[in-house]
Amino acid sequence: MHERNLNYEQAAAIVRERSSLTTDIGLVLGSGLGGLADTLSERTVIPYAEIPGWPRSTVHGHQGQLVIGKLEGKAVIAQQGRAHFYEGYTLEQVTFPIRVMRLLGVKTLILTNAAGGLNPQYQVGDLMLLNDHINLVGMTGNNPLMGPNDDTIGPRFLGMVHTYDADLRRLARQAAADAGVPLHEGVYVCLSGPNFETPAEVRMLRGWGGDAVGMSTVHEVLVARHAGMRVMACSGITNVSIDTLDVEAETNHEEVLDAGKVLVPRLTAVIRGVLRALP
Ligand code: HPA
Repeated sequence: MHERNLNYEQAAAIVRERSSLTTDIGLVLGSGLGGLADTLSERTVIPYAEIPGWPRSTVHGHQGQLVIGKLEGKAVIAQQGRAHFYEGYTLEQVTFPIRVMRLLGVKTLILTNAAGGLNPQYQVGDLMLLNDHINLVGMTGNNPLMGPNDDTIGPRFLGMVHTYDADLRRLARQAAADAGVPLHEGVYVCLSGPNFETPAEVRMLRGWGGDAVGMSTVHEVLVARHAGMRVMACSGITNVSIDTLDVEAETNHEEVLDAGKVLVPRLTAVIRGVLRALP
């Protein structure tokens, strides 16, 4: 099991020591999508290993560092890679960085992830803005908000209707249109992984209204919303979910990382456009 240290203040203090930028925008960059953080100006880079309690990603395609700097004139703090539940972290550990970002002043959180396309109209390389989610990990009893509630952060019972901020979605749609990037909007299904889905599971999730499926994001979204942050999240479709046994193909992590090469410039255009439009 991974070291369990949930001292949010201690971690925030280390980040403050290294960078004097005040950041009210946070970015979480998922599998193969970390490249955006390389384009920040006035960069300070802090490896996760140097921040006590920060969960380290053990997955290929996640750089594992915090990058603080400017993008479109806005000060941002970006996680280049994240930790996942399937790596053996508790959901408290998985969402530790979000609680630290809160202490650092983050009010707007933009998350990205690699996801499988359940919606038959989605193709590899497409973007899907989340407008809702189905949290199967939460429904089966694993939720980062379980346990004693800190009322100074947020409510015991969190409403979920306005999870994905309508204004940020409007800005993302506009940014995508301006950049000529096709953007779907849909429902993300969160599973624990680490295995990919069976064809029967793919058909079930699609029948339940899922458009994309992945193994991250929703836990972080819950903690961010609990703390009152505005949230936007975008999936990069890295593979089309296979819904039949009658194919030779098999889903694999290499295709997920390969698709990142097409997705990074598209995601970058959308996120830059959103940041430009923010006051
Ligand atoms: N399923 C779950 N998670 C994923 C997938 C997938 O097909 N692709 C990328 N992350």
